[in-house]
Amino acid sequence: MAEASTRVALVTGGTSGIGAATCEMLATLGYRVAANYCGSEERAAAFAQRTGIGTWRWSVTDHDVCLAGVAAVESALGPIDILVNNAGVTRDASLAKLTPDLWRTVIDTNLTGCFNMAHAVFAGMRARKWGRIVNISSVNGESGQYGQTNYAASKAGILGFTKALALEGARAGVTVNAVAPGYTDTDMVRAVPADVLTSIVERIPVGRLASPAEVARCVAFLVAEDAGFVTGATIDVNGGQYLR
Ligand code: CAA
Repeated sequence: MAEASTRVALVTGGTSGIGAATCEMLATLGYRVAANYCGSEERAAAFAQRTGIGTWRWSVTDHDVCLAGVAAVESALGPIDILVNNAGVTRDASLAKLTPDLWRTVIDTNLTGCFNMAHAVFAGMRARKWGRIVNISSVNGESGQYGQTNYAASKAGILGFTKALALEGARAGVTVNAVAPGYTDTDMVRAVPADVLTSIVERIPVGRLASPAEVARCVAFLVAEDAGFVTGATIDVNGGQYLR
């Protein structure tokens, strides 16, 4: 495990699933962590009570709201050194059944949310000559998935966004990377119809879902002090699923 750090990390969608595991791992390593969330206040309160990690509620879909949210976190904890763009949603439907609303909800949250949040922190990171941005993509953005044209497009878009922004941050000490999880044991994956999920897990070479902590471990690597030469990269955490 990397050395402890006192840097400030903000994780979007940080009170559940992969985001919560990431918050907890970074806090254990000594980072000062802020968890953004947009959904259940009860879940966020339970998370804060259990972990001692502060939570901030806003939607990553709104640019100005992101600027205000980042300002609020920074006035509480100090400048944000690390951004983990984890907030994401699914609205699965085959294209024939996909409405413009279902398309927009997924693109606005998963992809535009990354832009909104990066836009709010990137100038400060560049000015301070140090920063880490990790964007959570998905194996389904790499391979495609039946019923996920919206989600796969958003997650593939994140990979292009990551590589382009990595070039813009490189000389200023700001790395930008992606983690592409496979099917992970979260509420999002548990919402997949049971028979469909069983057939998916049967095709994962490792033979099981990932744990959220296994994904968080990769984020922790990418944000470490000694990971400064890793930028524009994608770490696959999919149990070999993409190989099949
Ligand atoms: N490949 C080929 N055909 C498929 C298929 C597949 N994977 N899945 C369904 N079909 C076929 C069915 O056999 C059926 O065919 P017939 O009409 O000939 O009988 C047809 O598609 C059904 O089409 P519908 O549009 O009526 O589909 P539906 O309304 O029944 O539901 C679905 C489709 C919503 C995509 C549903 O199958 C589903 O939820 N699938 C899971 C998608 C998935 O894996 N989501 C991942 C969520 S978690 C996540 O995304 C996290 C991450 O990053 C990994």
